[in-house]
Amino acid sequence: MTPPVDPAIARAVPSAATRSDPAPAAAAAKAPVTRADFDRLMVPCYAPAPFVPVRGEGSRVWDQQGRMYIDFASGVAVTALGHCHPAMVRALDEQARTLWHVSNWFTNEPALRLAQRLVGATFAERVFFCNSGAEANEAALKLARRYAHDRHGPHKVRVISTLNAFHGRTLFTVTAGGQAKYSQGFGPSPAGITHIPYNDVAALEAAFRDEGGDDICAVILEPMQGEGGMTPGTPAFLQAARRLCSGHRALLILDEIQSGMGRTGALFSYMQKGIVPDILTTAKGLGGGFPIGAMLTTDEIASVFSVGVHGTTYGGNPLACAVAGAVFDAINTIEVLDGVKARHALFVEGLKAINVRRRVFRDIRGEGVWIGCELDDPWRGKAFAVMQAASDAGLLVLMAGPDVVRLAPSLVISLDEILEGLARLETALRRALDQGS
Ligand SMILES: Cc1ncc(COP(=O)(O)O)c(C=O)c1O
Repeated sequence: MTPPVDPAIARAVPSAATRSDPAPAAAAAKAPVTRADFDRLMVPCYAPAPFVPVRGEGSRVWDQQGRMYIDFASGVAVTALGHCHPAMVRALDEQARTLWHVSNWFTNEPALRLAQRLVGATFAERVFFCNSGAEANEAALKLARRYAHDRHGPHKVRVISTLNAFHGRTLFTVTAGGQAKYSQGFGPSPAGITHIPYNDVAALEAAFRDEGGDDICAVILEPMQGEGGMTPGTPAFLQAARRLCSGHRALLILDEIQSGMGRTGALFSYMQKGIVPDILTTAKGLGGGFPIGAMLTTDEIASVFSVGVHGTTYGGNPLACAVAGAVFDAINTIEVLDGVKARHALFVEGLKAINVRRRVFRDIRGEGVWIGCELDDPWRGKAFAVMQAASDAGLLVLMAGPDVVRLAPSLVISLDEILEGLARLETALRRALDQGS
């Protein structure tokens, strides 16, 4: 029998059931805030739009003034099922009433169920959960280094990446990324990373010829470069990467942080490319807006990560995994994946029609609901101006470098919203590029 508690102590330790919300905290939660508070309070590493979104439903977002925007951005290719999808709300609500967090000293059911789904649907046999894309890539690069070290020796450390790639903002991933503007001033950077031009098979072969390629532990690639300009990987380049990795005992890491979870019309883009990676990373669409990342790999490769060599407090958090499970079930269906391909055709048709009228794009490219519109010569450098004019016209779009307007809507955006959004895009192009009426 537990001994009785001293009544004085019992009075000083109220039970959870009798605890109420402290009034000052509730008041602070409702205090009015404006965009100007961002400039006063936040570390200035972002320059958000002048309005503050407060509510979203499907592919529509409303700001503090009640203005509605059609969402062709989905965060940055994150809210794959739109805002507040009922299946996600249900999963989050149920999990929020059940179990929030236990740490990795325990496992939990939502994490195990999500791992089962990912393993069941892909090449992978093992999963590592984390909180973001950068963290998934960090894990992938560390795993590749560790695998080469343990299996082949300490000399095998070199990572081949591509210029213009984007793999995240940790020091390792930002260095792998190959866009100097993101890594300058943070040195010394991790060593042993070589960058070659994307889609350049000869340069890739040459990189493997140096030192006989024996020092290369991994090649890391996006199947289509997103942030770097919406450049699809050519089949020849992706297949050369696979062949050279296999021939030199190096691992192929595919970064599907942005391309994965249905965005290109397949669950993962590699399924459309005729190659299978050794390690795959995913995030963004995986949680549909709830932060989560994952690294997928084989039994053999995963086996070099023994207990304690890598980890993260929130990896496999039950809330994140419950939501991601609901996202996975909604996306991994023929209807949704085929629907992505049908929407692609509709977007391209609409964008081409705009281009016939306005002649603003030199190229319209991409896969699924992930489309880059490269501005033609007179308008180069104006992607940001288009993005701003779009929000003035009630449309959220993205850019991918200074010359490319990027569209990454929800995978299930409605036909009407696509048409309405394209009309708003045409208004924005006219205004931003000063084209009269
Ligand atoms: C291909 C790719 N990899 C990695 C990342 C980094 O993901 P996160 O911002 O979640 O760290 C991004 C983000 O844009 C991305 O597009």
